[in-house]
Amino acid sequence: MTELRRVYIETYGCQMNVADSELMFGVLGRDGYVRTETPEDADVMLVNTCAVRDNAEQRVVGRVGELQRHKRAGGVLGVVGCMAQRLGPALLAGAPRVDLVVGPDAYRNLPELIDLACGGERLSDTEFRSWEHYEDIPALRQKGPTAFVTVQRGCDYRCTFCIVPQTRGPERSRNLADVEREVAGLVLQGTSEVTLLGQTVNSYHDGQHDFADLLRGVGGIDGLQRIRFTSPYPTDFTPRVIEAMAVTRAVCEHVHLPVQSGSDAVLRRMLRRYTIERYLEVMTQLRRAVPGITFSTDIIVGFPGETEAQFDATLSLVAAADFDDAYTFKYSVREGTPAVRLKDHVPDDVASWRLGRLVETVRANVRRKNMARIGETHEALVERPARRGTLMLGRTRGNHLVLLDLPPTAAGEYHTVRFTGTTGSTFTGSVVQPQMAVL
Ligand code: SAH
Ligand code: F3S
Repeated sequence: MTELRRVYIETYGCQMNVADSELMFGVLGRDGYVRTETPEDADVMLVNTCAVRDNAEQRVVGRVGELQRHKRAGGVLGVVGCMAQRLGPALLAGAPRVDLVVGPDAYRNLPELIDLACGGERLSDTEFRSWEHYEDIPALRQKGPTAFVTVQRGCDYRCTFCIVPQTRGPERSRNLADVEREVAGLVLQGTSEVTLLGQTVNSYHDGQHDFADLLRGVGGIDGLQRIRFTSPYPTDFTPRVIEAMAVTRAVCEHVHLPVQSGSDAVLRRMLRRYTIERYLEVMTQLRRAVPGITFSTDIIVGFPGETEAQFDATLSLVAAADFDDAYTFKYSVREGTPAVRLKDHVPDDVASWRLGRLVETVRANVRRKNMARIGETHEALVERPARRGTLMLGRTRGNHLVLLDLPPTAAGEYHTVRFTGTTGSTFTGSVVQPQMAVL
């Protein structure tokens, strides 16, 4: 018998990449590979990459340079994911010690590609396979109470700043029954919260079932406590979907709702399919249907042609929408996207200044909201030990993080907790003893 080969995967970018890395461990595990957490003792090193912004790609370039040093004789170094898909064979030409370049639709070929690379070949597979859902390949996940479940791959929207449609290909959804079977299996292994993943996840449609059916179906699985999903597209919140959210107990009271800009003119140039009025209307509908719901968002500053007044509209939106959290980005030009051809690119120093102001505004708003939450009680799922200290990290249904004085064995438990303090972004909390109802 040959020796087991060890594979190391380093993951950058979004949650779908985390899920894809688990899938790659599944593909390779089936072929006799074992997982290692350290590049030093790996036979195969894969870097799962993001192409959404230039700085994400630059980080990967630096990291690939470092990993090359750990590459042993006969070892394989591969770049996979969105940057691999975007650059294809050109990446091989630019990085002489990289053996493999593999896009998100080619992961089932990894064992074969790695064997060829071991034989000295350098090769890429970036073909789109729009039928590919990896349905027969069980992902190899880290055991825990929460899990990511990809329900849709690719994207058919054409936001002018975004490279994703070109790195992940056309949109397609898994069959509802397959998703339900996977989630039921996860529950049997101790998972009680799933996050359903897709680029425009609420446009999910398997030919017979829409996203409302998906929420109801998954929500009906015995033992599943919580459903999250990311990222929805604002105008895909149909009345059916909102109704399903309202009546499906497991669906958490939190939505990540990327807005991108507070200016209608900028939204038009981005080819986002809504106005701010419509976006706020969707928020109002969701707030009405799902009491206590919280919102996070993504915002880009410095999009081509963004004027000072248009940027101010974004600041105003942060106040009007009253976000509970926001991920903020400086626009990054992506070769091959329509926005490259737009006029009036915003100078970098102006974009940086705007980003700084936006971050301040968001932080102040979130801080104010979180201070006002001190004293509230919430259900928290204990996820894992916190990075520092001896506390455990819990998450409320509204997606607030709370540090709790509980033993590591509490991972996976649900507790009613009271917020006792906040850093501005995360909370400290104490477990509330169940009280007898007083009549
Ligand atoms: N629909 C996807 C979007 C993926 S990209 C999802 O949310 O799952 C994630 C975020 O990155 C986007 O919402 C956008 O705010 C940001 N982004 C995408 N392209 C960008 C670019 N060229 N420059 C800056 N930020 C970008
Ligand atoms: Fe990108 Fe817009 Fe799709 S942000 S992933 S093109 S919805």
